[in-house]
Amino acid sequence: MLLFNGAFVNEKSVSISYQDRGFHFGDGVYEVFRVYDHQVYEMEAHLQRLEQSAKAIQLSLPYSLKQLDGMVDRLIRFNRLQNGTVYLQVTRGAAPRNHPFPSPQPKPTLLGFTSRLERPLEKLKKGVQAITVPDIRWLRCDIKSLNLLPNTMAKQQAKEQEAEEAIQHRDGIVTECSASNIMMIQNGTLRTHPANHLILPGITRAVALRLAQELNIPVSETAFTLEEMMQADEVFLTGTTVEIMPVTHIDGKPIRDGKTGPQTQLLQQAFEKNLP
Ligand code: PDD
Repeated sequence: MLLFNGAFVNEKSVSISYQDRGFHFGDGVYEVFRVYDHQVYEMEAHLQRLEQSAKAIQLSLPYSLKQLDGMVDRLIRFNRLQNGTVYLQVTRGAAPRNHPFPSPQPKPTLLGFTSRLERPLEKLKKGVQAITVPDIRWLRCDIKSLNLLPNTMAKQQAKEQEAEEAIQHRDGIVTECSASNIMMIQNGTLRTHPANHLILPGITRAVALRLAQELNIPVSETAFTLEEMMQADEVFLTGTTVEIMPVTHIDGKPIRDGKTGPQTQLLQQAFEKNLP
């Protein structure tokens, strides 16, 4: 079952106009929710970010957050989803192709679906490899918009080099990855890019910062350079699907001994303890 404009329907009943602005312009916003044991993880934070993203592009959501909460929940029950993700996107709806926002606003198109996904346990233990790429995105990366072409291109590059993620940088300053945030441990301090217009304020990023504080790991939300990252004691990704994922090698070079670091492990354990 899919969620389509407020109704629960099968795939064949979904019909989206050729004039949908999501299709023409990527004019819309989205969220990816994580489901553990039939429950949405950090639901409130994801819904609030969806509202923020919509507001930032002057899009009125067709339903209240409470209604969306209920719909996501029902979708999970209908599909008997135990572990996986819920993808939810809202576009500005259908109108003749013209760049300015149509006035009055057409009915936004809401689409939601679930996917099964188990935790990447093997990778969480062993860590993954990453590459570095220039961050060629726009200056509103804080909006979770449908415009993901630079992200897909970066991820494709990573895939071609048999790496898990692409770490993006602006003139040597590390921002975030193609579909996750990035953190490093430097002399015992956790460092990550500040949550400004250059990165997505990740929900898992916020969870990791909270856990670090609980574990008395000092936190500094300051940007770092590629050189600093290569010299870091530990590097890891945070994201809805990757959780707290150790990065052992970057551009083929090991970070320290090329193994999952102790602070990363502590954060992973604390993360796991909080799961439903
Ligand atoms: N991506 N940065 C970017 C560019 C992202 O696309 C994501 C998430 C994150 C991590 O945010 P969070 O912890 O809230 O998932 C950071 C999702 C999973 C995606 O597009 O598939």
